[in-house]
Amino acid sequence: MPESGSKMTPATTHQARLIDGRAMAMRVRAELARQVATLITRHRVTPGLAAILVGEDPASQIYVRNKGRQTREAGMQSFETRLPATVSQSDLLEHVARLNEDPAVHGILVQLPLPRQIDELAVIDAIAPQKDVDGFSIINTGLLAARGMGMIPCTPLGCLLMLKEYVGDLSGQRALVVGRSNIVGKPMAQLLLRENCTVTIAHSRTRDLAEECRRADILIAAIGKPRLIKGDWIRPGATVIDVGINRISVPSPNGPREKLVGDVDFDTAVHVAGAITPVPGGVGPMTIACLLRNTFTAACAQNGIDTGQLSA
Ligand code: GUN
Repeated sequence: MPESGSKMTPATTHQARLIDGRAMAMRVRAELARQVATLITRHRVTPGLAAILVGEDPASQIYVRNKGRQTREAGMQSFETRLPATVSQSDLLEHVARLNEDPAVHGILVQLPLPRQIDELAVIDAIAPQKDVDGFSIINTGLLAARGMGMIPCTPLGCLLMLKEYVGDLSGQRALVVGRSNIVGKPMAQLLLRENCTVTIAHSRTRDLAEECRRADILIAAIGKPRLIKGDWIRPGATVIDVGINRISVPSPNGPREKLVGDVDFDTAVHVAGAITPVPGGVGPMTIACLLRNTFTAACAQNGIDTGQLSA
């Protein structure tokens, strides 16, 4: 730790290292683009990612557009299916079944959330497990929990890559995951367990969240509550990964404006943590980079190709 505890130096002069997810994601995508190029020239296989977008949700449209653009930039094929918000369960399942059979499609992603008439879990489980690049299906969930393998959900995988880069060996570290969603909290806890962390999962019913946070060497915030976790909840020197993306209204000279903030109160946390992800520019870019990585891995596996041979 720098001198934040010293009597001569006010605590606020300490600044955590910023975990630059944007720069790291660029490196992951650049390495992936090289591997994809090798896969195409050596094996004549172009990885393909299909996204299904149901309805007109603006945030989902932006996500899917960004995923499509970055897929193409990495040299892979991007397929997009847009369906109306009124689509029936059986029509949606039919689209998934068609993509399961399509040899040009190695990864399938159904953008969530889905409209109310759709049974989300049934749709996720209809995706062939080897093409389930989100890793949300019951097969991949089970593989991660019981065997520490399978397709790993992209956001937790991105968080893990950042932790490994900034912390190194995670073995024996006390990790707190705040949030128990199927998309982030639960798979994140499984991954940290696989790295030999001592893992606690906190959630909306946890009794003294501040005290739980103060014990953590690694804190993953994925609860969806803007700036909930304050600087004085954080153990000095801890590594903080903020998964939250919350839109809030803040005053400005020209009237209220929208701002993206995380689940951590960055302005106070940055003076206590050892390293911290900003929002935006932290976890978000790594999520898409990991989705592309999963698609590449899926394409190799479906063609019996060892990914290790493509790194050179
Ligand atoms: N909606 C919000 N995050 C995600 C994600 O990671 N995958 C999918 N399919 N939908 C989402």
